[in-house]
Amino acid sequence: TWTMLNIIDEQVELIRRQVGDGRALCALSGGVDSAVAAAIVERAIGDRLTCVYVDHGMMRLGETEQVKRDFEAVFSDLDVVDASDQFLDALSGVADPEQKRKIIGREFIRTFEAAEVRVFGDLSEGQAAVAYLVQGTLYPDVVESGGGAGASNIKSHHNVGGLPDDLRFELIEPLRTLFKDEVRAVGEQLGLPPTMVWRQPFPGPGLGIRIIGEITRERLDILRRADAIAREELTAAGLDRDIWQFPVVLLADVRSVGVQGDQRTYGHPIVLRPVTSEDAMTADWARLPWDLVERVSTRITNEVLEVNRVVIDVTSKPPGTIEWE
Ligand code: XMP
Repeated sequence: TWTMLNIIDEQVELIRRQVGDGRALCALSGGVDSAVAAAIVERAIGDRLTCVYVDHGMMRLGETEQVKRDFEAVFSDLDVVDASDQFLDALSGVADPEQKRKIIGREFIRTFEAAEVRVFGDLSEGQAAVAYLVQGTLYPDVVESGGGAGASNIKSHHNVGGLPDDLRFELIEPLRTLFKDEVRAVGEQLGLPPTMVWRQPFPGPGLGIRIIGEITRERLDILRRADAIAREELTAAGLDRDIWQFPVVLLADVRSVGVQGDQRTYGHPIVLRPVTSEDAMTADWARLPWDLVERVSTRITNEVLEVNRVVIDVTSKPPGTIEWE
């Protein structure tokens, strides 16, 4: 952890020099990468960093509240934007996976640009001011995009909708030389809470790509309750760090016949998709203990009345992907 301390000190020094008395903005996703990147920048420039967390209405049960609690303790200037209605209205009637992603990406940029204007927009024209965006880019992302190591941790960026013409954006990417496990070590060194440091990966589009079919508030509510049970039981079994991810998927357009008490039911199936992985490029289906699978299945069918069947996905990646969409 000497190395981690060195990395933090070195980055803090670099960022102070580069940002001077400028301002920086960071979009927090709830994930560990953006949180650690922002925490380093916060250490360097304090409340001249503004963090924005966009609630798109497709987070898991209690997640936005948890993220808010965790982030408020760390970041002095945190802007939590509730954009659920905006996102869910834009997604209404859309079932195609790529279309969903496109709409979510577009609405995210809109929301974030509004935050950019709030933070930087008062800069008068003609000043050629420089504003900074913080991103949690890791070494594998750099390599993938052909950037190479050892490059400067700042590169220019062209996403300035609605801002003064001569306002230049630069990226701050303090994690550019690090792998995921090193990012977690830096996060621990910075004293970030374990819920933040050890959070499993969660896709940007959230539960939206775990509802197969159109996304509605009602379907989100069903999936949230089933997902909460699966996560709770995984944690109770002490397996959070052994399992890479545990997506729970709602087959919203499928119904099957079941029986509960002496009542015929006609409900939706829920798919459990626990996987192990090193880097999400490949994955194996996780051999969860059967008693855990049994508890999850019994609880979901007892507690989520809209669901009458629980199935488990035993496909590795490839040929399957981790997510169903
Ligand atoms: P797949 O499903 O392609 O997922 O095996 C690989 C990893 O990426 C996550 N994932 C996403 N993350 N935006 C994200 O930020 C997305 O649109 C997205 N789609 C998949 C997935 O959860 C897994 O960790």
